[in-house]
Amino acid sequence: IMDTSDEWIRERTGIAERRWVEPGTTGAAMAADASRMALEAAHVEAREVDAIVLATLSPDHCFPGTGVFLQRELGLSPVPALDLRAQCSGFLYGLSVADAWIRSGQYRTVLLVGVEIQSTGLDLTTEGRDMAVLFGDGAGAAVLRGSEDTDRGVLSTHLHSQGEHAEILWCDASASYRHPRITAEDLEEGRHYPRMEGKEVFKHAVQRMPEVVGEALDANGLTASDIDLLIPHQANLRISQMVQRRLGLRDDQVFNNIQRYGNTTAATIPIALHEARQQGLVKAGDLICFVGLGSGLNWGAALHRC
Ligand code: COA
Repeated sequence: IMDTSDEWIRERTGIAERRWVEPGTTGAAMAADASRMALEAAHVEAREVDAIVLATLSPDHCFPGTGVFLQRELGLSPVPALDLRAQCSGFLYGLSVADAWIRSGQYRTVLLVGVEIQSTGLDLTTEGRDMAVLFGDGAGAAVLRGSEDTDRGVLSTHLHSQGEHAEILWCDASASYRHPRITAEDLEEGRHYPRMEGKEVFKHAVQRMPEVVGEALDANGLTASDIDLLIPHQANLRISQMVQRRLGLRDDQVFNNIQRYGNTTAATIPIALHEARQQGLVKAGDLICFVGLGSGLNWGAALHRC
């Protein structure tokens, strides 16, 4: 369907497979599946959830956000449902919000979900191949609960943004400051497709991700050798490998599964966390570090003691 090759994609990105939804599958339905799995793994009943945070750049509708549709699917009215737009850093931003809500005592149990349907929004012509080969659909979820045990849980979260780089990875249309928000010309010119200056994004990622991990470690008096598992946002295997090298981490300290899913944006970190747990790589007492960068630019890191 476009001029590319498996070899090019594997070599430049590490991606061998990606999952695309069947037409008609909603983000809310995928989010609900992931939420049920997370609730079961956490031994928490859905009715114990006090608030929902849902991160996505591909909402099912312009408004309202996908969070309320997820809430409806889970039968959780009237708990608050917050949609969060921080793209590839959505899960990290959501983790920070959920952690702050719990620390402040406002909510005890927060359901945090990252979900994306990218496949319906990609330019599948050769012009869009740099983006189209990277992205997949997916959902991942986590349940956060307040505890008196201060040695475990989220140790800290560290977030940053740099709006001056907004256009290096963005989708221009539809745009609410234009009337109509999307025109035939927009569609002809492909302004409704995501566009990216790949090399620029790459450069920022390999600089900012190690930097913000360092910031998180410093804030907790830890060093990179204390990390049992780094779970990076899965954007490109070469980015993860460069971040690993810059932090001086061994292969067994870094989890990657982009090979099978591509970049599922806000869903990559919770999907990776789920698979790392399934593979027995997350044990009690382990220090897990989450890190990511994406459109915004937004980036961040979090440390979690299991
Ligand atoms: N198949 C074949 N060729 C492709 C291609 C594809 N899917 N995508 C791009 N190319 C071509 C380009 O057209 C270009 O051809 P040209 O030299 O004739 O102009 C050539 O490959 C090199 O393109 P370039 O963009 O410089 O490649 P790159 O080495 O930077 O790799 C990315 C492209 C997208 C893989 C890489 O830049 C990247 O991963 N960037 C970060 C992306 C990212 O992480 N985004 C999400 C952040 S959350």
